[in-house]
Amino acid sequence: MYYPDSIVDEVRSRSDIVQVIGSYISLQKSSSNYVGLCPFHNEKTPSFNVNPARQIFHCFGCHKGGNVFTFVMEYENVSFPEALRILAQRAGVTLPERSDSAEEREKRGKREKLMALYKEAAEHFYRKLRSEEGRKGLEYLVGRELSGPTMKSFGLGFSDGSLYNAVKERYDDGLLAESGLFTFRESGGVRDKFFDRVMFPIFDQNGKVIAFGGRVMGDAKPKYLNSPETLIFDKSRNLYNLNLARRSRKGYFILCEGYMDVIALTQAGFDCAVATLGTALTERQAKLISRYVNRVVLTYDSDEAGQRAINRAIPMLHDVGVTATIVDMKPFKDPDEFIKALGAEEYERRIERAQTSFSFEMKFIAERYPEREKNPAEKTAFQREVAEWMLRFKDRLERSNYIKAFCETYRCDESEFRETVNELITKAAPRKTVTEEAQNIPVEHINGDGEVTQEFGRKRAEQENVMRSQNVLLSLIASRPRARAVVRKYLRPEQLSGKVYQNLARRCFEAPPEAVIEAAEMGSRYETVQEQRLVTEMLASVDADRAEDVKRAVSDTLVKVLFNYAEEQIERAKKEGSSADLLRFTREKAALTRDLPRKLQNEEF
Ligand code: UTP
Ligand code: MN
Repeated sequence: MYYPDSIVDEVRSRSDIVQVIGSYISLQKSSSNYVGLCPFHNEKTPSFNVNPARQIFHCFGCHKGGNVFTFVMEYENVSFPEALRILAQRAGVTLPERSDSAEEREKRGKREKLMALYKEAAEHFYRKLRSEEGRKGLEYLVGRELSGPTMKSFGLGFSDGSLYNAVKERYDDGLLAESGLFTFRESGGVRDKFFDRVMFPIFDQNGKVIAFGGRVMGDAKPKYLNSPETLIFDKSRNLYNLNLARRSRKGYFILCEGYMDVIALTQAGFDCAVATLGTALTERQAKLISRYVNRVVLTYDSDEAGQRAINRAIPMLHDVGVTATIVDMKPFKDPDEFIKALGAEEYERRIERAQTSFSFEMKFIAERYPEREKNPAEKTAFQREVAEWMLRFKDRLERSNYIKAFCETYRCDESEFRETVNELITKAAPRKTVTEEAQNIPVEHINGDGEVTQEFGRKRAEQENVMRSQNVLLSLIASRPRARAVVRKYLRPEQLSGKVYQNLARRCFEAPPEAVIEAAEMGSRYETVQEQRLVTEMLASVDADRAEDVKRAVSDTLVKVLFNYAEEQIERAKKEGSSADLLRFTREKAALTRDLPRKLQNEEF
């Protein structure tokens, strides 16, 4: 995939970062910057900064940063070309036809055709529901107390088996088969997969139809039939109604199990309801949720299966920084039934009185030990199970607070219980010294090739060191033409570690001698979020003003970078058994610390 730089530049220059980010999250002016709550991690005080002068953003909490493209890529969870398209559309820039590989073209073509087919299908079902053939579907939905506007906003429809005939002229059978909307029989006949069902279109985040759920109007099985996963539909990555709920101003999501629950809630004024798509909550979905809210109200069915599902959802949400509360809908089964019976206001009260996930889980465990107050063995087993449960809290303070709360509610001796938990912790992870421990935690790290890797210990520290030096050096040569002219004499791009760095250095050296190279501009030439983040980080590293400081920074970092290069070459020479290279680079390495600083001292910066 390749867009000419001129187009990328045009879109960037017409997309003011403050306006773009400001349309996603709320930003406040603060001296020369704008600040807001970071959309990429959970926080209560704003550490998310947008810099209008440099057209970059940076979060001091989670260290995400980049330019307007990076932001859209991360926020919308899309690739660079897609972010470019989104921003181009917003800015009113027409993109040229793309010149990508045949394979990509084919895949994209197919996706577009599938999208078009699903859109047509949704329109077809929609029309049918409002026609004579769909009358019983409409009656069914009216019987379930859905209003006309509600049916409209969820795009509800009806399938009478006439879809194939309606679309077969315009799509080839291969695509129709792949769409999952039809059954191709060996005899040669083709049938609609959905017949005599009310249809619930499933939209992606941007409001495009990507799948359907179809419900029988009576008690037949299966109650719901769902279209299969396709090139455009991955059910573990989408949530029902996310396209509308993400625009809610409530600040939380109501997470439920069924399409009908979402619809009933929305009709009752809760515009922030989402549902999983017939499966348990996945990690990806939890992550998706955490992009929009940091609080979720769980309102799963009151039956045993629903309660179990809550138990699985809570830790997943906790892990992405989303707190969960649980609504008690008893004696009713689900939000749809509850609201029908008691109304929206009563439901609102239940939300306000929702249990914390902690008390929900404690009760859930306690219910299995009904005799615990009379029977010491049972009490021991109960406490032991809760102690195990406490291990999920990796943060010591958080854990300690939960231990305290538990002991107060369930009347346990706190110091005894605390000790039990601590014993379990020791058993689970044999103690290590602090540095050993730190070195053994893998940390996600973007290497110089712009790939996310997990590195351990010393190797990670060394790499970070080199990368930091490279960042500073590149930042200096990008923003200071004089420094660039000097560095050029001593450094070849390929001596930098990592292809993103080499590439950027090359671009800097190719730039006009007097040009000041902007982070936002450079970053947008890279396609993946990682590469972009790396580039903006590199170029935002340094704020040295005095020529003396620049000189010292260049000298320090250049020595480190060349030193690292020499060491890499020595390693390689050893491996390859090349004694000539070994000698050469060992000499170069020695000369570096001896001669280079002196030479640089005599340069004009
Ligand atoms: P429910 O049985 O709770 O459905 O299943 P519901 O949404 O409350 O529907 P009504 O009120 O009976 O009409 C919850 C979800 O599980 C999936 C659907 O996503 C449904 O919304 N499901 C259920 C299926 O995919 N297939 C089924 O046969 C049943
Ligand atoms: Mn229901």
